[in-house]
Amino acid sequence: MYRTHTCGELRIEHVGKIVLLSGWVQRTRDLGGMTFVDLRDRYGITQLTFSMDEQPELCRQARGLGREYVIQVEGVVSERSNKNKQISTGDIEINVSKLSILNASQTPPFTIEEESDGGDELRMKYRYLDLRRPPLRENMILRHKTALITRNYLSALGFMEIETPFLIKSTPEGARDFVVPSRMHPSEFYALPQSPQTFKQLLMVSGYDRYFQIVRCFRDEDLRADRQPEFTQIDCEMSFVTREDVLNTFEGLAKHILREIKGIEIGQIPQMTYDDAMRYYGSDKPDIRFDMKFVTLQSTQESIHLIRGGHGFKVFDEAELIVGICAQGAADYTRKQLDELTEFVKRPQIGATGLIYVRCTADGTFKSSVDKFFDTEELGNWAQHFDAKPGDLLLIMAGKHEKTRKQLNELRLEMGTRLGLRKKDDYRFLWVLDFPMFEFNEEDKRWYAMHHPFTSPKQTDINALCKNPEHVKANAYDLVLNGTEIAGGSIRIHNKPLQEAVFNILGFSPEEASEKFGFLMTAFEYGAPPHGGIAFGFDRLCALLGGSDSIRDFIAFPKNNAGRDTMINSPSGIDKQQWNELHIQHQKHISS
Ligand code: AMO
Repeated sequence: MYRTHTCGELRIEHVGKIVLLSGWVQRTRDLGGMTFVDLRDRYGITQLTFSMDEQPELCRQARGLGREYVIQVEGVVSERSNKNKQISTGDIEINVSKLSILNASQTPPFTIEEESDGGDELRMKYRYLDLRRPPLRENMILRHKTALITRNYLSALGFMEIETPFLIKSTPEGARDFVVPSRMHPSEFYALPQSPQTFKQLLMVSGYDRYFQIVRCFRDEDLRADRQPEFTQIDCEMSFVTREDVLNTFEGLAKHILREIKGIEIGQIPQMTYDDAMRYYGSDKPDIRFDMKFVTLQSTQESIHLIRGGHGFKVFDEAELIVGICAQGAADYTRKQLDELTEFVKRPQIGATGLIYVRCTADGTFKSSVDKFFDTEELGNWAQHFDAKPGDLLLIMAGKHEKTRKQLNELRLEMGTRLGLRKKDDYRFLWVLDFPMFEFNEEDKRWYAMHHPFTSPKQTDINALCKNPEHVKANAYDLVLNGTEIAGGSIRIHNKPLQEAVFNILGFSPEEASEKFGFLMTAFEYGAPPHGGIAFGFDRLCALLGGSDSIRDFIAFPKNNAGRDTMINSPSGIDKQQWNELHIQHQKHISS
């Protein structure tokens, strides 16, 4: 037997018991007469003591233990004179009578404690050591619990977990596919699924009217803190449901997870249309932990003209849109702070040409960066539109519609952060509804599905489908948490003619559509029920529950920012025989 207890288990009531423990040496401290060893496993840390007087040989052995040695000890549980309130086993220690080294260890390349001295790259290379650290361990536990709670919740509602294949077929929509060459079929490739979308719809045709799967998805796209090439979804689909049925069901899941994991009651989740989200926040995933809504002073699209022209301020005179936010209590921002904000919006990632500010001072006057052009009365008018109070700061941007909204969204988020309005433990969910069905890509001059091509248009917009695709709204919805899209879904198309019409708008010839998605359209001819669903980004959900922006910390073995696993060194070359078996020419052969 290796152990009678774990390193996180022993308490004062165990005093006097003889126990066996196994674990890793976190630290040894040699105080002359006594040697102390912190023994760690995934449950916690227990202090071991070795007395020079009583067991000199054993004590010398303990002094020789290196960090991360794997050892087994036998000893008696004793009450500690110096209690440690920081750890759960801090009331006791083990007076060791037997010690065996189960495995020695090289000195680890970084400290394996709460805080590590290792840089990102080093810790990724030795991820299995980093995973021993308590913060990562807590993340893995949170992930496990969230998955378990989700499975139990959905299963209790009659959802069945059904696996769908990983080796599927490459399709042209969405992100880029990862492809896998076929050995048995020369020049043919499988693709790894970007999501089980078409399979879950086929399961609806098969009559499994409540499906879910906690499933790996693969997308060959540029990486960010909240994107990995392989990530996990809680993927769900239901038959005979309206949008409201889907929203209610998954609002229930979100509430349940928050209650069980965080002990928080989130209440009813508010809803907002896509159009309002863009109008008031310049984003389809607004962070509603704070208000700071956009106020439009001028818009050629909406015929709003609250700024009188002719002041000679070209930026405004030439703008399609003049829009701003009111940062409450920020009128005392210094020149330096305002310059920082201007620099912030001018960064290439944001790309604004400038920023206009108006300080609403405590004495009721206004100081602005455009005092040369606008008098106090005019500035006062603006302040009124913003409902600004003395002490507030107006930040205004001008330019083209879409670009300016996006830029102001970045500034709004930055101000929210600077003013401390984006607290990690404040969980604000939001449903964003009624997305446009299509978006036009100027580069290749064609329509793309904003969600995916299987999303149904709103019934009221069906007539506009072919003539005015830009006006068609989809039965699509996203669930946003603190400004991050954590889930997306839709009510689907379930009949062949409509699906064909959508493929046609997306630029597929009937032959192409049939070659790529014929299986789905054929299935629609054999009694496809009305259906809809949603998929949660499971890694993102866990990261937000754990108070982190990076999903990497919630994936046991993630890829780095360049899409590499530096621990196993992948991607990597394959040997010549594999190239041949896969019937693909070796790059070196081609270039030589
Ligand atoms: P969608 O593409 O919106 O929808 O994906 C669903 C959710 O998955 C998460 N997500 C990601 N997480 C980490 N890394 C990535 N690269 C990544 N890409 C997406 C997001 C997103 O909200 N089949 C549809 C769902 C449906 O219609 O039912 C789909 O995949 O949190």
